Amino acid sequence: MEIGMLHTHVLVVTLFLLFLLFKTVLLLINKNELLAKVRKFKMIDPILGVLMLATGGYLLSLYGAAAPTYLWVKLVIVLIIIPIGIVAFKKENKAMAIIALLLTFYIYGVSEVGSLTFSKEETVAVADDSPAQNAQEVVIEGETSDILKTGKEVYLSECKKCHGKDGKKGLFKSPDLTESKLNLSERVAWIKKGKGVMPAYENELSASEIEAVALYLDELK
Ligand code: HEC
Repeated sequence: MEIGMLHTHVLVVTLFLLFLLFKTVLLLINKNELLAKVRKFKMIDPILGVLMLATGGYLLSLYGAAAPTYLWVKLVIVLIIIPIGIVAFKKENKAMAIIALLLTFYIYGVSEVGSLTFSKEETVAVADDSPAQNAQEVVIEGETSDILKTGKEVYLSECKKCHGKDGKKGLFKSPDLTESKLNLSERVAWIKKGKGVMPAYENELSASEIEAVALYLDELK
């Protein structure tokens, strides 16, 4: 569900950006007749706009209270772009069209990098509300090879979609699991509680499945 929504969101935003780019180019090179024809498809912008906000709003809601600032700023900028875009093409105002286009490129970039200033450091999550804080000592008993087998199965069916087969996929800005500093007990606590987009698994998986997948994460390193 989350993944499908993210893909739809990216697709809609890309279409919006391309359409805006196309219209801006027509405006800049004074192809006003062609632009008027393109603008006859009045519904394209509102439809894409609503889809963009609806899918984006859903994704934002997944984060709950943990939504990073850049996502809120993005939302505000989108709400600014839409009226600027509408006025720009209505009044055939080149400067406004360029502003709308640049702002759209900017938020596209912000989303890719996950930072308003495109800096890497800013994207590192603050650890103060980490679910790992309440970790309780976990001792795993049983045949390690069996546990790892279960762990791998759980990982591939539940975790791979965001974290990738090798733990490095980073969908939704999830951290590279091969670089994780969490110990086994902390990972178990994390997987149980989840955080932001990362689902809580305490009611989805059994305690032994959670322990198994937490142990399996060492195999990715
Ligand atoms: C919908 C996407 C998604 C799925 C599915 C998912 N995760 Fe995550 N995971 C994330 C995100 C995003 C974060 C970072 C959350 C944050 O810091 O706010 C994360 C963080 C983690 C962390 C913390 C790493 C660290 O060092 O900080 C661990 C461990 C982890 N995930 C394990 C798993 C396991 C195991 C599964 C499967 C049972 C799983 N995840 C499923 C998105 C996901």
